[in-house]
Amino acid sequence: MAHSIIQVDILGLIAKAIYWGLKQIHRNDQSYKVNEVIKALRLQNKDELRPLLKAKKKTESGWDLVYILPPGVARKDFEKERVYFETFSNSIVEFECKGRRLTMHIYSTGYPNIIKFNFEPSAYSDMLAPLPIGVTPSGKLIVEDMYKLPHAMCGGMTNYGKTSWLIGVMTALLLSGVKVSVIDRKGLDFPRFAPWVNLALTETETENLLDAHIQEMRRRTKILKAHSCQNYQEYREKHNDLPYLVLIVDELTQIKSKAAQEAIDDLAHLARASGISLILATQKPSGKVWDGFTDTRSMLAGALCFYVRDVMDSQIVLGMGNTRGAELPKIQGRAIWNNDTDQMVQTMYLSAREAHSILDAKVPKEVYAFESRDERVKT
Ligand SMILES: Nc1ncnc2c1ncn2[C@@H]1O[C@H](COP(=O)(O)OP(=O)(O)OP(=O)(O)O)[C@@H](O)[C@H]1O
Ligand SMILES: [Mg+2]
Repeated sequence: MAHSIIQVDILGLIAKAIYWGLKQIHRNDQSYKVNEVIKALRLQNKDELRPLLKAKKKTESGWDLVYILPPGVARKDFEKERVYFETFSNSIVEFECKGRRLTMHIYSTGYPNIIKFNFEPSAYSDMLAPLPIGVTPSGKLIVEDMYKLPHAMCGGMTNYGKTSWLIGVMTALLLSGVKVSVIDRKGLDFPRFAPWVNLALTETETENLLDAHIQEMRRRTKILKAHSCQNYQEYREKHNDLPYLVLIVDELTQIKSKAAQEAIDDLAHLARASGISLILATQKPSGKVWDGFTDTRSMLAGALCFYVRDVMDSQIVLGMGNTRGAELPKIQGRAIWNNDTDQMVQTMYLSAREAHSILDAKVPKEVYAFESRDERVKT
């Protein structure tokens, strides 16, 4: 009798240990939590077929779960429920879809709120104008070639990191041999960079600087023609006298004059062929920003959206139906980069003071000499 009681106790203990062990495995197994979320949200088609977990892989930054989607269930159904996946896995979640195969990237190793500026131009020597966007949750720095974009915009609420990003971008471009111009109507952040960039602070300077770019675009078009080059890249393969130009506008809503708005429209449409790109930033991405411009917006292939309060603002920066800018955590420097697909990034932080000392040490103090440049805007 006593013998059988001891036996039952031992069996009970073993069962408990197995149960506890399985619980621990599940606690660490993100696929278990994700499957529970899929079940609870009834992410299934009308025949009650659910996404099927095909593979799971531990990565350096968390897990990759590969699902096969049944007909009637699409990536957007997962996107809509992102907040549940992120809450239950206590991680950042990104989706990637190829046909019916959906990969859920789960980043559980922690995503820093500050990533210091670190840019090595020689790593991007194959690009005409390397534009560092930010670091993904997996730790990869996204860098785009402006020549391929060819223009970008950045939007977001005040104090979330637009100007700091522009300062980092300006520094990276200058380190890469690109010539930069800046329209800074607030006049607070960029004047100290006057030794390296063509700067416009007032309305007249803005119009003159934009006009200088338009004249430069025409001059370059003639040069390319004279050398029988189809495009800027072809010219650059043989000549070194026309550096790539990037014009940064910090706060687009400050561009109020019709002449300046038309010049930006023209540059957005025609400048790429002559090696000129635009980066336009705005605090208030509401539809009104674009009122004075014909269709500059459609030419901005890359868009970086920091936190915005309103889903409409997010859609204006990232595209119709894309509300991710409003769903971002309220973290300075945290943003969504949209160029075909979305990618969460933490922009690299560089203060104006640090940028100045990097440029002081590494980039000669000279600005691009626009041939047609008016005396009034000479800095
Ligand atoms: N990438 C970043 N990582 C961490 N903190 C950042 C980052 N970028 C900016 N910050 C912090 O946020 C502050 C505000 O940044 P910034 O001036 O760039 O904002 P902004 O979007 O340009 O604001 P505004 O619209 O008012 O001009 C900075 O002073 C800095 O403290
Ligand atoms: Mg700013």
